[in-house]
Amino acid sequence: MSDPHSSLARAGQEFMKFLYRLINTVRIYRENNQLIRKGVGELKGVIDTLAGGGDINVHLWRGRFHIRGERLQYRRDLASVVNGMVAYFTQRNIGQIIFLNASGNVSTEEFVAMIRLLNDSVMSDDPPAWLEDKMLEHGFSWLQVIRKQDEELADKEASLEEERYEKARSTYIHAVDAVREVAQKACKGIVGVRKTRRLAQNIVDLVRDDNSLMLGLASIKDYDDYTYTHSVNVALLATCLGRQINMSDISLEYLSVCGLLHDLGKVGVSKDVLHKQGELSVGEWDEMKAHPLIGVRKILRLNAPHKLRSRIILGPFEHHLNPDMSGYPRTIFMDKISLIGKILRIADVYEALTAQRAYRTRAFAPDEALRKMWSERGA
Ligand SMILES: [Fe+2]
Ligand SMILES: [Fe+2]
Repeated sequence: MSDPHSSLARAGQEFMKFLYRLINTVRIYRENNQLIRKGVGELKGVIDTLAGGGDINVHLWRGRFHIRGERLQYRRDLASVVNGMVAYFTQRNIGQIIFLNASGNVSTEEFVAMIRLLNDSVMSDDPPAWLEDKMLEHGFSWLQVIRKQDEELADKEASLEEERYEKARSTYIHAVDAVREVAQKACKGIVGVRKTRRLAQNIVDLVRDDNSLMLGLASIKDYDDYTYTHSVNVALLATCLGRQINMSDISLEYLSVCGLLHDLGKVGVSKDVLHKQGELSVGEWDEMKAHPLIGVRKILRLNAPHKLRSRIILGPFEHHLNPDMSGYPRTIFMDKISLIGKILRIADVYEALTAQRAYRTRAFAPDEALRKMWSERGA
């Protein structure tokens, strides 16, 4: 309805005009006289045009009317009608009135009775609740009145959701930077910088396109910055390794996501344990060892497509298991580790050994790390 002269916009304006007129006519005449019957006829006619077999939702949103989801554009001479309707809704604490598709078949008497109820509701302390009772009493099921508070609540929820999304978005932007940086440092010499950058870009594009993955990554960052940086690095290293052994593009995608989310379960490990620098006690170690399983549970709860979820749970489950099935979590249901699990394990250990961390005096140099990993392979 962007053009007030389009046919839909015209019907919207007519609708407002006739509704406003009828509201006032039934106020003046207590009996259903000729004028009232004419008013109902006009309103029902325009409801037919507007509804086209569907519902008509008249929604007052931040002081503007929306009809059937489109903002009502109106001619200047209709301003007093629209303002009158804004006041009408506001006085009654009404956010929306929905004429359900059956309203075209309603008798004139019933229509008028409903308008009278709407008018009279202003005398109640809680007009929407009063209306709900009365409509139930009369068996009026063709109209729905929604209170304004619910709208504001929905509004608040929507803005919270928006805030959450914004936060996730900024996490994503940081991930882009982090991945780029790692791409330049760690992967040099493995696949070449240009290729790696494209790889990194693919990872972040993948996360960006799926809100649930972005929110998963954001929850890691929210909880622990170190785990977040580590996860981004592992994703990149794992993807580099995967590319080296010619994994298909789709497998590389799953591998990247597995890397990003492999330690998601650490969100369920207390920070004292997560950051403890000395030896962990048996109880603390048990808590730490629970993270692959917690991660799997969290991934299953992500709102990602079923197919994606099913492809990204095995890697995070396996990433602390060794080829001889030592490590954790102990399982009797498997006797070997998947390729993604193996790659994650290598990338995870390499990243943990080489990364510069605030609490560590010296990280292993890449060749030292590889030598150490080679000597401890299979363990
Ligand atoms: Fe882990
Ligand atoms: Fe890890």
